[in-house]
Amino acid sequence: MKTVLITGARSGLGLALARTFLARGWRVVAAGRQMDTLPDDVRNNPNTTTIELELTDDASLRACAAALHDAPVDVLINNAGVYDSTSVDSDEVVTTVGDISRVFAVNAIAPRLLAETLLPNLQKGGEHVVVGISSGMGTFAQLRGCGLEPTSRGCDGYEAVHWAYSASKTALNYALLAFGVLHPEIKISLINPGWMQTSIGGKDAPLSPTECAEHITNLIIDHATKLPAGTLVDHLGNTMEL
Ligand SMILES: NC(=O)c1ccc[n+]([C@@H]2O[C@H](COP(=O)([O-])OP(=O)(O)OC[C@H]3O[C@@H](n4cnc5c(N)ncnc54)[C@H](OP(=O)(O)O)[C@@H]3O)[C@@H](O)[C@H]2O)c1
Repeated sequence: MKTVLITGARSGLGLALARTFLARGWRVVAAGRQMDTLPDDVRNNPNTTTIELELTDDASLRACAAALHDAPVDVLINNAGVYDSTSVDSDEVVTTVGDISRVFAVNAIAPRLLAETLLPNLQKGGEHVVVGISSGMGTFAQLRGCGLEPTSRGCDGYEAVHWAYSASKTALNYALLAFGVLHPEIKISLINPGWMQTSIGGKDAPLSPTECAEHITNLIIDHATKLPAGTLVDHLGNTMEL
């Protein structure tokens, strides 16, 4: 049985991914905060293991690896993330060094450190895949489009207003791709899940986390043919310009 470790598995896309991987017969290590509140269908599944993980805490990252002991991890999905304002509709972004640092810590720094910490487990797995759940907002292509392309949200410089979130995703992309350069035996793939109805995406988003999770699970399970290494794709596997 193959094993996927999913961060931020308590809600949104992470929870939906836990459900889709369990449905495909994978073992799921659901990592996140307050895992005692993980919905029963996932928590009580015999193929689920839960691990408490606070991504801004080095000791918690080490404890996550310790809790796994030497167990193989086939796929690590760095899914957890935070936004830089209370909602997608708000232009009141975080402005302090502390708050902006926290966005970078959760979205970019911790995913890289977690990949490093779990490298022995990934090397024991059969798939050797690390996925970063990224965002189109973190691409220079979308920033260049601000004010030029009449895209759904890019036309008003939305990405530029939300620079802390956007830049943290750019940093995630770089941090994981650089990890792949140092560890070529590990396949790094970046996935933009699309605009989804979650606490980050808000209720007006066109996509449900369940449908995105189905697509992303398909990409990951068939990664050899469907998921390119070292680049960003959307949830359907279409390559996006970084
Ligand atoms: N929704 C969209 O439209 C959209 C678009 C592009 C990319 N994304 C990306 O998709 C990923 C999933 O987000 P989502 O939309 O599913 O939002 P979500 O429902 O808010 O999920 C975010 C998850 O990250 C976890 N998390 C946040 N801070 C953490 C920390 N310090 N330590 C551990 N876990 C932490 C949250 O845990 P708690 O439950 O404990 O808070 C939650 O489970 C994120 O990386 C996001 O940037 C989302």
